[in-house]
Amino acid sequence: MAQRSSTLLLFGATGDLSRRMLLPSLYGLAADGLLPDDIQVIATARTEMDDAEFRELAISNLREHLPADFFSEVTARRFAKRVRYIPVDVTTPEGYDQLADAIDLDKGVSIFLSTAPSLFKTTIENLKRVGLAGPKVHLALEKPLGDDLASSREINDAVAEAFTEDRIFRIDHYLGKETVQNLLALRFANSLLEPVWNAAHIDHVQITVAETVGLEGRAAYYDGAGAVRDMLQNHMLQLLALVAMEPPADYDPVAVREEKVKVLRSLRPMTKVGVRDELVLGQYDAYAGELGEPSDTETFVALKAHVDNWRWAGVPFYLRHGKRMARRKTEVLIQFKCVPHSIFGTMGARTEPNELIISIQPEENIRLKLMAKTPGLDRGGMSLREVPLDVTMEGAFADYRRRIAYERLLLDLIEGDPTLFVRRDEVEAQWQWIDALRQAWQDAGMTPDPYESGSWGPERSSEFAKRDGREWND
Ligand code: BG6
Repeated sequence: MAQRSSTLLLFGATGDLSRRMLLPSLYGLAADGLLPDDIQVIATARTEMDDAEFRELAISNLREHLPADFFSEVTARRFAKRVRYIPVDVTTPEGYDQLADAIDLDKGVSIFLSTAPSLFKTTIENLKRVGLAGPKVHLALEKPLGDDLASSREINDAVAEAFTEDRIFRIDHYLGKETVQNLLALRFANSLLEPVWNAAHIDHVQITVAETVGLEGRAAYYDGAGAVRDMLQNHMLQLLALVAMEPPADYDPVAVREEKVKVLRSLRPMTKVGVRDELVLGQYDAYAGELGEPSDTETFVALKAHVDNWRWAGVPFYLRHGKRMARRKTEVLIQFKCVPHSIFGTMGARTEPNELIISIQPEENIRLKLMAKTPGLDRGGMSLREVPLDVTMEGAFADYRRRIAYERLLLDLIEGDPTLFVRRDEVEAQWQWIDALRQAWQDAGMTPDPYESGSWGPERSSEFAKRDGREWND
């Protein structure tokens, strides 16, 4: 059983992630009584400040980023009092000794590196030097963990010099989302779905992550990364793994991650020959203008993936993600096969295939589309219509509060439970597949098609689904 940490040490505490997500998440945990009183939070960044100044900064961030009906000045002040601030320039050795002095290592510490990945190596070396590594330390790392398999291995090797794998918590914040975890509950806590969750009954799967935002002031990072490395490599492949994995024997870090990695390794590598038919890249019309220069970076990707194993043989997984799309939505759609024979066919009634749509955000619901009789006295039989069975999270759970994904992840980090974090072999399997995909499109000389901001992406992305007789759920 992992040891609970009595200190949370936050590097990059004045950065964007910390201000928008981490501090609000810690506030949420404290407000709900989930952050035990004996846990101290130490924030660190390069800026010279004392405790009082950092606390005021934290409170104004909370006021800005929390929903008005959840933020309370009193709770924020009580929470801020628990946070200490120690300025450290991570590139120089000096500040680390002061950190080590402030921490009782025997009681365990969780360290969250919310800094640029280029600083990971030196930070980890220094942490090791002052004794803040080893079995009593949990280390959380934010993406991007490399930009291809080789660089990801380099980072993983550097981290492994100081930490064993069971102490490394690689973050994919999608795994902290309640509705993403619900994929596991839906699949493995209901006996109804599992028997039909396979190639015999499922026609295809669609995973869409559509965003309306664009560059959001991250031009330097984003233009170097692009949609494939920013979203497909991590969040979307994690969603795919959760949909496609075999039932793990237990809900524990080994069993769950073992099954996910098997799926990732079963993904068929894209090749130069198939890539033009199975991949569409796009760039929204205003991108170069926002960036200030021409660029070949993709802000949209749609592709057909194949999971080559017994369960999924012949079932395409259509994946699609883009910035500045028509509306924000993240969803998984499972389309089942049509009935093998329609008894209503002679009456001209069409039976549509059943669909299960799991909406992850902004709506959080599960919808099963069924065929039903349209009320009325149709002559000579009946007419049919598709009707939805709808379950919303708000409707099903009284007092449902939409949590920030990092609340779950920070709590699990402190408790030392890595189930919802990404294991080294997973992240490397993801990169291996992504590297082959990028190589294939480069070999084929593909560049992104332009698309209109506020649309569903380039025309070719609808065409390529239609060619298979399928349609995106727009
Ligand atoms: C991040 C990406 O990992 O996820 C961003 O870097 C993206 O580009 C974000 O906007 C999406 O997260 P969410 O939780 O808003 O869907």
